[in-house]
Amino acid sequence: MMMSRGTATMVRSVTGPMSARLFSIAAGTGSVIGAARISAGLAGSEKAVATWWIKSYPVIGARNASTVALGEKEQQDHKEETVAGGGATSGDQKGKEVVSYWGVPQSKLTKEDGSEWKWNCFKPWETYQADLSIDLKKHHVPKTFLDKFAYWTVKSLRLPTDIFFQRRYGCRAMMLETVAAVPGMVGGMLLHCKSLRRFEHSGGWIKALLEEAENERMHLMTFMEVAKPRWYERALVFTVQGVFFNAYFLAYLASPKLAHRITGYLEEEAIHSYTEFLKELDKGNIENVKAPAIAIDYWRLPADSTLRDVVMVVRADEAHHRDVNHFASDIHYQGHELKDSPAPIGYH
Ligand SMILES: [Fe+2]
Ligand SMILES: [Fe+2]
Repeated sequence: MMMSRGTATMVRSVTGPMSARLFSIAAGTGSVIGAARISAGLAGSEKAVATWWIKSYPVIGARNASTVALGEKEQQDHKEETVAGGGATSGDQKGKEVVSYWGVPQSKLTKEDGSEWKWNCFKPWETYQADLSIDLKKHHVPKTFLDKFAYWTVKSLRLPTDIFFQRRYGCRAMMLETVAAVPGMVGGMLLHCKSLRRFEHSGGWIKALLEEAENERMHLMTFMEVAKPRWYERALVFTVQGVFFNAYFLAYLASPKLAHRITGYLEEEAIHSYTEFLKELDKGNIENVKAPAIAIDYWRLPADSTLRDVVMVVRADEAHHRDVNHFASDIHYQGHELKDSPAPIGYH
């Protein structure tokens, strides 16, 4: 990776078993000054190459240079953020750009078809094509006491979930993603602190687990476009997050191999839930609506994709999370630490 300031040139290369990426960004102030080229290699013929032009705006004093490409809701969020975040903003400037001398650079991206990149929450080089060929049926047979404890803990959580949501799989998926995005963040945070305490590398596991958390959060950002939570469901998320975050935190402190095994089984349940979701879609019990725009860009789906296509790629993601977490648990079981085995960064 090479980076220099001023004309700000950055070249980064990522290689891994499932993907290979190379892109470069040239940025400065002015109009169009460079291009970002991403080449993402997936298995066999699924190679995709996409090019995004980078525009850089005169940035002094402007935070989030443009909202032209944002949807109505995001524009409103942007407006609120601008007002809330600007210490220098006076009352009559409400809704206007924040003026600042900090010079934080803002770039605007445009897709190769000329349309503007809509999302501030993720960039083109973070997108990927899901590997749908992954084995969905793989299962870790619980043999040890800890494994059985993890397995039955997860199984026992499924019963109240089934009763609460019945066959409302859209809502169920959305609510479960609020939980699924927690383990990666907790594990990544604890490994981060451990790395600091011990003055040692993490083997890439901090990044891998935080990537998982972000990927799960993107599942939530996608499903909230097709299912709107009711007030009592929002309240439930508060409660569940409070309990689950702390419980998982303590579990990870006490036994990372148990914590990763629990997540591995949670992911197996997620695969099951999304398979049921697909069955309901195929039966026509759930309307196969158009895929949300955020999903089309995040998973590089064709423009005419539907909810079914989205559920397929999300399910593939869950299968990858399953593998990563069972693998992490196995590393501990074999008497090693995670840092002893290179982390599957970018494993999609
Ligand atoms: Fe998920
Ligand atoms: Fe997952």
